[in-house]
This record gives sequence, structure tokens and C-alpha cells, in this order.
Amino acid sequence: MCPPDYYRIEYEINPWMDRRRRPADTSLAVKQWQALYARLTTLGATVKLLTPVPGLPDLVFTANAGLVAGEKFIRSNFRFPQRQREIPVFETWFKERGCRILPLPAAACFEGEGDALPVGKTLFAGYRMRSDIQSHQTIGEILGCEVLSLELADPRFYHLDTCFCPLDGRTALYFPEAFDEYGRKVVAASVSELIPVAAEDALRFGCNAIMVGKDVVLQAGCEGLNRDLRRRGFTVHELDLSEFHKAGGSAKCLVLRLN
Ligand code: ARG
Repeated sequence: MCPPDYYRIEYEINPWMDRRRRPADTSLAVKQWQALYARLTTLGATVKLLTPVPGLPDLVFTANAGLVAGEKFIRSNFRFPQRQREIPVFETWFKERGCRILPLPAAACFEGEGDALPVGKTLFAGYRMRSDIQSHQTIGEILGCEVLSLELADPRFYHLDTCFCPLDGRTALYFPEAFDEYGRKVVAASVSELIPVAAEDALRFGCNAIMVGKDVVLQAGCEGLNRDLRRRGFTVHELDLSEFHKAGGSAKCLVLRLN
């Protein structure tokens, strides 16, 4: 995770961001981020930190750094120049910790765990708004796993982790309308248990949840989703991450899984 010391809305690269009408309150963002950090630690996660850098407001969304597999770090190729400046910062962090940096061919964009989430042994990978489908084959070869490509259809759900969330090896949350018909078919055929999320909860970033074992860290106010999760035996921990919604992210985007 990366503390939000320099988090602000400085540019607009997705439909949620509006510099004038929806500026972020940095001190409130710091409090919300600290509550997330504290919750994850209480749930038993070990959280490593990246030092924030002035002028890189979206560095807090570490999920987009890349994809970690053991000692390998598959480095992202960001779509927008505003975020391309984060690349050397992430790369240095992983290099200093002895990871092998695996860049992807420069012609293909890829935005890390924001667009690549495993269910069991299969990696689900989103494309179109941020990542390019051409990156998927290389990632599958590096990881030695099956990759299923899912086209994202709604610009508000521009990263896969805004509309799809694996809960365990066989269950996932998803917001059906964020995919095209073919994508919905692929998901339905490949995930044994699918929990559809209603639009009102998806628009509150309900799919952008973090799993720690059977515990789910979820945006507050997703009532239907919260109920569905508890009914299935998950323990739900609600947090408000409203300041980060203004940049188009929530809980999951603020975290990159290292193990
Ligand atoms: N403002 C950031 C962007 O548009 C938000 C990134 C959210 N990250 C995520 N994994 N969904 O790139």
C-alpha cells in the first residue's frame, strides 16, 4: 500500500474524475486510508509500504503497479502518460526487494492486478479501457496458466477489479452489465459460484472488495451485497473510502497482493 499524502484529483482519465466538481479532501482520504490499513492488519495481513511521491497522486492505487508471482514482478504498461510516471517508482521498490522485473512488450498496455484476477488456477483478465488483449498471452506464458480475456463494456467500470471480485477458488462477485454478452458467458462457464451485484452496489464500488481468508473488506452502504455475502458465510467489514471513489477507485485498488 502507499499512503495518500499527495493524493488529489489532478487530472481526468476516467469518468469518475472531475477536478473542479469533485475535488478530493486529502486529510479525509488519509483517515480513510489509515482505517483500511488498520483493518487489514487486524485481519492478519502483513502490509508493506511504498513511500509516496509528490506529483504522483494515483500512486496510492498500488493494484495497478503490476502482477506479483513469487519472485517475479510483471510490470504494468500504463495507458495514460499521467500514470506512466509511476512505473520507475514501482520498479525500484520491487528491484530493491530482490524481485525479477518482467516488463511486457511496450506496444501492449497492461494495468496490473486492476485488470488481472485469479479464480483457482485461471487468470481472468480485463481489456479495452486500460489493458490491451495482446498483453494477455504473454502474461499466460510467464505465469504458465490459462488466461480468460474479458472485454469491459462500460467506461465507469474501466478496470476488471471494479466489476469482478474472486472470493475464493470457486466463487466470485460480478456486475453483469459491465461485460458484454460473450464476457458474461465466459464468466458463467468458468466460475462455479457467481454472485451478481446490483447496479447501486456496483456503483458504490462494491465489487472492489478485498478478501482476507473468509473476511471481506467492503465499501460501506452496499446493503444487498453485504447481505448476500453474510448469507454465504463470509464476514463483512465495512469501511468508507468515498474520497478514493472520486478518482475511480476503492478498497481493492489501494492494495497489491504480494504473496
Ligand atoms: N485514477 C486512477 C486511474 O484512473 C484510479 C485507478 C483505480 N485502480 C483500480 N485498480 N481500479 O487510473
